[in-house]
Amino acid sequence: MQERIAELRAAGEAAVAAATTTEELEELRVRHLGRKAELPNLLRNVSDLPPAERGVVGKAANQARQALQAAIDARAAELRETELDAQLIADRVDVTLPGRAEPVGGLHLLTRVRRDIEDVFLGLGFDVLEGPETETVHYNFDALNHEPNHPARDRSDTFYLAPSPHLPAADGDRQRLLRTHTSPMQVRAMEQQDPPLAVIVPGRVYRPDSDATHTPQFHQVEGLWIDVDITLADLKGVLLSVARAIFGAERDIRLRPHFFPFTEPSVEIDVSCHLCGGTGFLRHEPGHPRCPLCKGTGWIEILGSGLVDPNVLLATGRPEYDPEKVQGFAFGMGIERIAMLRYGVPDLRLLYENDLRLLEQFA
Ligand code: PHE
Repeated sequence: MQERIAELRAAGEAAVAAATTTEELEELRVRHLGRKAELPNLLRNVSDLPPAERGVVGKAANQARQALQAAIDARAAELRETELDAQLIADRVDVTLPGRAEPVGGLHLLTRVRRDIEDVFLGLGFDVLEGPETETVHYNFDALNHEPNHPARDRSDTFYLAPSPHLPAADGDRQRLLRTHTSPMQVRAMEQQDPPLAVIVPGRVYRPDSDATHTPQFHQVEGLWIDVDITLADLKGVLLSVARAIFGAERDIRLRPHFFPFTEPSVEIDVSCHLCGGTGFLRHEPGHPRCPLCKGTGWIEILGSGLVDPNVLLATGRPEYDPEKVQGFAFGMGIERIAMLRYGVPDLRLLYENDLRLLEQFA
């Protein structure tokens, strides 16, 4: 009987030592120490033995069972540790790797161009402001030095809003409209801040036009810099760096005389064509087809600007903006126009159709 016990113990210990997984070990436990196993049964039936044998056999069997249990526990601890190590290695994640997911969505081209423009001006020290899209006649026209019979005031040229008791009456000016440009923010900004002042104002504007290059709603960026002794040279310097930042370091600009009620002198700014390098010809050489972007002129109009008219400074009613003390320049550019020129978008309406084939090109 004692021999059998020793055999069982040796066989059990050998099997446990050879176990390589915790599941295997659990099977061994059931086989050697479970309810149907030989060793525990032996122990259970000790009382059936002749009294002289009971003590010795019982003791041997009990020791064997305990030894086996201890061997299983020890092996289990070892296996758990190696299994955990293996698991940790298998699950290892390199958190420094870049994400592998496909990018989801993207910014609309107009948003990207607006942000690019904002970045350029932020770099030049301008602040970014926003203003109301419904304006009063005062800010949209009167304060900007428009004659009472200026054509832009016409019912057919501007979206007027029906007078509403729900709209706050601003300065007794109950007539409201959808702003036709971002320029009303020139006066609002000067009312709110003392000079020196350098701001840009991106935002939506509205005009009743609709064709390949005009939509009833579009976006502008207004710019205004007021300080002492600002001249056309400052205007040219700032807008040259802006044109180069947007259209390339090789670009040049030219100022063409123009008219706006709220600037004097007024100029339109052209940038040398980035498609033909300003030559007017594709491949940058005579003999090749005429450049379709600048129509062979070598120049593209990008914005209107000028030195702020003294009447606009006076419209603020603030002594800080006395035209004898401060001067400045203002400009307004169309974001759609910049986007179309920069990225070769042929029809403005494409920007509003939300066709993924267009949007994904700029995501
Ligand atoms: N507000 C003018 C426009 O729409 C642009 C402009 C802004 C011109 C500022 C001069 C100065 O079209």
